[in-house]
Amino acid sequence: MKLAPSILSADFARLGEQVRRAEDGGADYIHVDVMDGRFVPNLTVGPLVVEAVRRSTSLPLDVHLMIEEPERSVRDFVAAGASILTVHQEACRHLQATLALIRSLGARSGVSLCPATPVGVLAEITDDFDLVLVMTVNPGFGGQGLIPATIGKVRRMRKLLGDVNSEAELEVDGGVNVETIPSLVAAGADVLVAGSAAFAHDAVEKNLRRLREVAAPVGTV
Ligand code: DX5
Ligand code: ZN
Repeated sequence: MKLAPSILSADFARLGEQVRRAEDGGADYIHVDVMDGRFVPNLTVGPLVVEAVRRSTSLPLDVHLMIEEPERSVRDFVAAGASILTVHQEACRHLQATLALIRSLGARSGVSLCPATPVGVLAEITDDFDLVLVMTVNPGFGGQGLIPATIGKVRRMRKLLGDVNSEAELEVDGGVNVETIPSLVAAGADVLVAGSAAFAHDAVEKNLRRLREVAAPVGTV
């Protein structure tokens, strides 16, 4: 089980310190949420901040693009240091080509689905992604409650990946906390993104340890 704290809920006035503390707390990836004010209403960061995070940690950067026409920006984000670059299916007219472009640039390719998008849209391109991100809230903001129906969707995505022997990682994002983690893990998630639950109370190390305990109770693998 991997933990990917989302810096969306970190204190941006001391971002480097927050990222280093997340690493000390046992984070596996640093999740960076890029929003353009069009695909989602919110507006966040671009390649400049990804490059600053890159200099703050040796962990893989898991960059989640919530932007229209992401194919126009993937080069810049890989150059800035993205290790995994995830685009939204809903934002890509030629998704297979965009995923292939990401790999050709040397990053791992990721694809994300909003809650309303069925898992079957990926059935024909399961060879083209290294990670699939099932959104468990509508993208755009941290601190939202997980949409219960997305648990069944995680299970269906796990089955789709299993049916084709895909080794892609199955990541979930939105409303991940100690209450929701057990059902997400049972449904087959293997990377947990957490924003508010990771950075709450300026205690990221302690929060990550607690999330990990819940995700993998002692005595399990
Ligand atoms: C939401 C972002 C998430 C966000 C999750 O659109 O993609 O990564 O940071 O925040 P929480 O964990 O607070 O729901
Ligand atoms: Zn995200």
